[in-house]
Amino acid sequence: MKSRRIKNGVTMSSWQTNPSQQISGDIRVPGDKSISHRSIMLGALAKGVTEIRGFLSGDDCVATRQAFEAMGVNITDQDDVICIEGVGINGLQAPAKPIDVGNSGTGMRLLAGVLAGQSFASTLVGDASLMQRPMKRVAEPLKQMGANVSVNAAGCAPIAIAPSSGLHGVTYHQSVASAQVKSALLLAGIYAEGETIVHEPGVSRDHTERMLRSFGYPVETIVTGESRTTKLQGGGVLNATQITIPGDISSAAFFMVVAAIAPAGSVLTIRGVGVNPTRTGIIDILQQMGADLTLENQRKVGDEPIADVVVRASTLKGITVPRELVPLAIDEFPVIFVAAACATGTFILRDAKELRVKESDRIAAMATGLAALGVKCEVLEDGMVIHGNSDNPFPNAATIDSLTDHRIAMAFAVAGTRACQAITILQCAHVATSFPNFRALAAAVGMSVEETNDLAGTSDG
Ligand code: S3P
Repeated sequence: MKSRRIKNGVTMSSWQTNPSQQISGDIRVPGDKSISHRSIMLGALAKGVTEIRGFLSGDDCVATRQAFEAMGVNITDQDDVICIEGVGINGLQAPAKPIDVGNSGTGMRLLAGVLAGQSFASTLVGDASLMQRPMKRVAEPLKQMGANVSVNAAGCAPIAIAPSSGLHGVTYHQSVASAQVKSALLLAGIYAEGETIVHEPGVSRDHTERMLRSFGYPVETIVTGESRTTKLQGGGVLNATQITIPGDISSAAFFMVVAAIAPAGSVLTIRGVGVNPTRTGIIDILQQMGADLTLENQRKVGDEPIADVVVRASTLKGITVPRELVPLAIDEFPVIFVAAACATGTFILRDAKELRVKESDRIAAMATGLAALGVKCEVLEDGMVIHGNSDNPFPNAATIDSLTDHRIAMAFAVAGTRACQAITILQCAHVATSFPNFRALAAAVGMSVEETNDLAGTSDG
């Protein structure tokens, strides 16, 4: 029987994978998580009714929707369309209690930017994983803008936000490119007097800028070599619009890799995938590793480019990941590490320290799981070295802890297709934060991922 027990307030769910043969099919992955969050936020702050198609109904984006409902925004479902009755920039109401964004770093950091500009007090909280993630990176620059924002002594949530005497634009230099920090500052910048300018040392995803423009709010981006400067004037207006959300390339990544490492003859098509150039590091990295991956039917939905991605099984080789591709593939490294374990030769990733502060420490989580499966890998402070074995990548049977990190769970489910034996993956319930129908799509393409008793849940009662 399926097991979904509640332990310490967390839903427990384990998976058992079995090796697969051919991987094939024609699928669509759910809507993009980053864009779904932003569509709720900007739709709520716009004048008029915004319609959203392709919204990701995963736990993270549902938490963002509920946050705005708790602040008086009317949001309804009409068939597959979400309708938001925007309240305008200054129309939000004080929430009755702390806003709980669950597991979502994007929800928390972007909301901090919106709430910094409000005339009411609010508090942001999340689940056990999120409450340990760094929040000073948004609190500090928001304070520089005049916001009344505080985090705890460890620099983490709860984030307490009190009304301020008004925000003013700043010029902020980020030490690491981060779309979440940039977006928080741009959203606060709407409420600020003057211009908000964010400098980044590299490229980060630009969905906020694209969507602000779709809502009629001007944003300027200046490219200088690898760095980016983004500017916005406060005091503007967002006008309701219609948004169609592309398939999430971060979810498609699991299926790109599972097809690439599958037995010869496997072919998989993933339709309608967002291929915004700030997100396509996974495609470049897999192609550099020798994957047979092509983009077909390239087109646009609204302001975002999409394509059908066709992947054929092929022999992969290890590479040194070019530094400039790291931020463009930052969420995909768990499954890229699985591809590397199935490749010939050595794979090297550096400059990816951010992986240590995602939903888990993804360098440690992946290294522990890969080593348990018999992969030779070396942990670096800012990355990993993996010595692949294309003939027998995962020689050992193992039980792997996903540490409640959705992308760790799904990455090991992909590894399970090439394992010698069944593998067990613990604490998989958080997959629902980004990819609620992952197991159904996995089954449709020929993977075997079953829910089973949760061993973590039974070990200590
Ligand atoms: C996101 C930005 C990235 C990414 C996260 C989603 C966003 O984080 O890892 O999953 O939607 O803006 P950083 O901006 O912190 O790099």
